[in-house]
Amino acid sequence: MKYVNTSRTAIATVSAGLVSAALGMPLAALAQANPCAAGTPASSAANPCAAKNPCAAKASQRPAGYKPYQGARAELVAAGEKLFSDTRLSTNQLSCASCHTGYAAYNESFAQPYPHKVEMASGMYGMKQIHLDEMVQLCIVTPMAGKALDWKSKDLAALVAYMEEEQKGFKAHLAKTPSAAKNPCAVKNPCAAKNPCAAKR
Ligand code: HEC
Repeated sequence: MKYVNTSRTAIATVSAGLVSAALGMPLAALAQANPCAAGTPASSAANPCAAKNPCAAKASQRPAGYKPYQGARAELVAAGEKLFSDTRLSTNQLSCASCHTGYAAYNESFAQPYPHKVEMASGMYGMKQIHLDEMVQLCIVTPMAGKALDWKSKDLAALVAYMEEEQKGFKAHLAKTPSAAKNPCAVKNPCAAKNPCAAKR
């Protein structure tokens, strides 16, 4: 990550702590409800995210015939880096950086080539594997309670390009500190962390 400095690192530490403090519910409880899956009764009581956005899984799945926006790589990465800290993607004042600064909240799966299985996607929405652009949409729609980006948009392509760089950095980070992705709180319940930063502001 290019922008780590002492104050950012301090924020990362604080926000990782706040996220884990706010994560109360076991993943198993969330896994029960998938109102978008055919034949599954919508038991949203068990799943606060589902109640808010019953079709988040659908919103995170690539549409048929999907063709992502194409643009100059460096420009997309730079635009993606800005969006990473943009709270306007959420309805709960979170940005990607609120949870992911300093590689916080990722699990080891992030080091694997896409598509792959991600706990949050399979546990909550029964998605057996997920592409990076779908993961970006899932984080916007679920922990950030935001609106999925237009699949053809430059913003989505920019975030994907930036996250590809972030993934490279994460791999290096993981190689140096293998315990980094062993954060037991990372997977639990990102939806419970509505606004982990508000309380401390
Ligand atoms: C409230 C916290 C939170 C916010 C905000 C958030 N995420 Fe996440 N994100 C998570 C958690 C928790 C995981 C780990 C999921 C897992 O491994 O099951 C994750 C994992 C990921 C992964 C890696 C998945 C993998 O392959 O293992 C990507 C990529 C990602 N987020 C992108 C984003 C982007 C882009 C944004 C902003 C648009 C964002 N996230 C905002 C909580 C958050």
